[in-house]
Amino acid sequence: MIPRQRSSPISPVSPPLPAIATEVVDGLFRTPKSLPPKLLYDDRGSALFEQITCLPEYYPTRTEAAILSTHANEICSRLGQNVTVAELGAGTATKTRILLRSLLQHQFSVNYFPLDVSAAALQMAKDEMERDLDSVCVHPHVGDFEDLTFLERQAPPRLVLYIGSSIGNLERNQAISLLQNIASHLSRGDQLLLGADLVKDSGILHAAYNDSAGVTASFNKNLLVRINRELGGHFEPDTFSHVSFWNQTASRVELHLESVIPQSVRIDALDMTLRFGQGERIHTENSYKYTIECLESLLNDGGFEVEHTWTDPLSWFAVTLGVIT
Ligand code: SAH
Ligand code: AVI
Repeated sequence: MIPRQRSSPISPVSPPLPAIATEVVDGLFRTPKSLPPKLLYDDRGSALFEQITCLPEYYPTRTEAAILSTHANEICSRLGQNVTVAELGAGTATKTRILLRSLLQHQFSVNYFPLDVSAAALQMAKDEMERDLDSVCVHPHVGDFEDLTFLERQAPPRLVLYIGSSIGNLERNQAISLLQNIASHLSRGDQLLLGADLVKDSGILHAAYNDSAGVTASFNKNLLVRINRELGGHFEPDTFSHVSFWNQTASRVELHLESVIPQSVRIDALDMTLRFGQGERIHTENSYKYTIECLESLLNDGGFEVEHTWTDPLSWFAVTLGVIT
């Protein structure tokens, strides 16, 4: 007879923490507090960003779209023959369709590999691209810029798109590392099309990140809503204000969330309570603005030789084609 054993109690197993937990702990235990801008893009954040792109004050999207529309044919004529196209931070890829429509006049079909942290944005990119351009085959990949192994699926000759001024959300050293990482996945003759926002009048910059409809404020505060939902946070978004200003010395627009009262905020999943003094900020985003010379030196440091730069009549935005030599 098998001796009866006392059954051992079931030990409670804590559910795994959501992926954003480490970044939230790292950022909110720092002084000053900060959070990485990629956390702005949950489903609601991606939808709010789409609204931002249509705001009258937010000039970057329409300015870059105009550059791409005006010069699409010339850009495509400078590309390798029968390129495959990858895109970093593709979002809904609305502007990419301008370029791929033109590319289809130079080649029969296109294999397109968009990468983004937002699955919702990528799904929209795929649906709209396939509805609009039936000779484009879309291979979406949900992931972070930190892992570019998806580029290995892209056959040569390759074009990598990094448009929308997303490079402006990185520090210079991060931008160079990312460009070098892209370059390490490419071969001689492969190309990069980079879209970046240029330094301009501070009033225009201020308005673009402080729109009168308050969409940018909602986009910024959505980070707190996301922490509430994903980590059991108890932030009251109305007790934080959206603060955004042009920092001329650093050549960047900064976004912060500022506590309007002294308060403590518990985050259940992290079993921690954060304290905020009145006026204390969480730094949520930088948006660097470049000169054409700085952009070209950034590309060189990243391992690319500049082939050509296109800009708009007011020189507000630049689209630069770089090549691996
Ligand atoms: N390229 C589009 C979208 C720009 S918004 C345009 O020009 O309009 C920035 C995009 O980058 C968002 O869709 C966001 O989800 C994505 N993103 C931000 N940080 C990222 C990261 N670390 N890795 C991958 N995608 C990222
Ligand atoms: C995606 N990125 C280039 C935008 C920008 O302008 O820096 C994000 C943004 N933040 C506030 N408004 C738009």
